[in-house]
Amino acid sequence: MRCRKCGGSAALELRRHNAAFCSPHFIEFFKKQVAEAIHKHRMFSRDETIMVAVSGGKDSLALWDVLIDEGYRTAGLYLDLGIFDYSVESRAKCEAFAARRGQTLHVERVAEAVGAPIPEVQKVTRRPTCSACGLSKRYLMNRAALEHGYPVVATGHNLDDEAATLFGSVLHWQTDALTRQSPALPSTHPKLVRRVKPLYRLSELETAAYAFLSGIDYIVEECPFATGATSLSHKELLNRLEESSPGAKHNFLFGFLDKARPAFERMEEVDLRPCSACGQVTTGEICAFCKLADLVKRRGAGRAPADNPAPEPAR
Ligand code: AMP
Ligand code: FES
Ligand code: ZN
Ligand code: ZN
Repeated sequence: MRCRKCGGSAALELRRHNAAFCSPHFIEFFKKQVAEAIHKHRMFSRDETIMVAVSGGKDSLALWDVLIDEGYRTAGLYLDLGIFDYSVESRAKCEAFAARRGQTLHVERVAEAVGAPIPEVQKVTRRPTCSACGLSKRYLMNRAALEHGYPVVATGHNLDDEAATLFGSVLHWQTDALTRQSPALPSTHPKLVRRVKPLYRLSELETAAYAFLSGIDYIVEECPFATGATSLSHKELLNRLEESSPGAKHNFLFGFLDKARPAFERMEEVDLRPCSACGQVTTGEICAFCKLADLVKRRGAGRAPADNPAPEPAR
């Protein structure tokens, strides 16, 4: 295999692009894809400071790395979910990366905000662990960005993540989720910061290759609660499809974004107002996060589940 750019020996073959690259040209390709995502969806400008939500995994650290290299002003945000050794190790990876690249890393402890670490929260709500976790992450990312004055939060969601989410939403025809599925969610309220996914054009394999070739030290283990998650089985399914027809994942996601998504755009604006408990936005009286925190406080971990908070419908 020869590099498409220089004819040198290739380090990586990208079947869906019908191309192969040597290491330096793969890095160049990777950065170009990120630049194209930022440009196409007007994710942010060079005058803005971007808050990069980092989990310690390959995707978000690769994203932070590219943005720093490309000269963007950034700060990291790590949310400590309190998930045993996994959280301790992933936090250490983020701190080491931030120190090496001379960047600020903000750390928020979920246990402080919700009242208990994620494994305890799960016992109280009896909903799938990642639903309380996802709700808390989205809430705290927004809150941290507002508090520190960052206009935009970037996450490391890649092509595989986005295709699997889309697949799950289509399977159940969750039209609200289809409306929200986008590489860039605009701010629709002064208290809602923009959320962008600059890696949506790059596959999981490509972000892993980038992280490896760039010498990024990341946590390889998945969150212990991820085992058996439906998103993983959707990913496996799509990988099998990709194996027999390279580009299938890409066509599925990009076809949706280009052709189908406009049909799911909301006809009417949702009415967002401040949560009467915390002041962040919600469609109801009290936001889902405050309901979750209240439930944790009232019931305490390990007790019987009660009125579980409804999922936040706004984004
Ligand atoms: P996941 O939902 O775990 O697939 O992660 C998707 C993206 O959310 C990651 O690429 C990160 O940008 C962000 N993220 C996940 N977990 C954390 C965390 N503990 N702290 C900060 N950001 C996170
Ligand atoms: Fe949410 Fe594992 S439970 S990351
Ligand atoms: Zn080359
Ligand atoms: Zn609230």
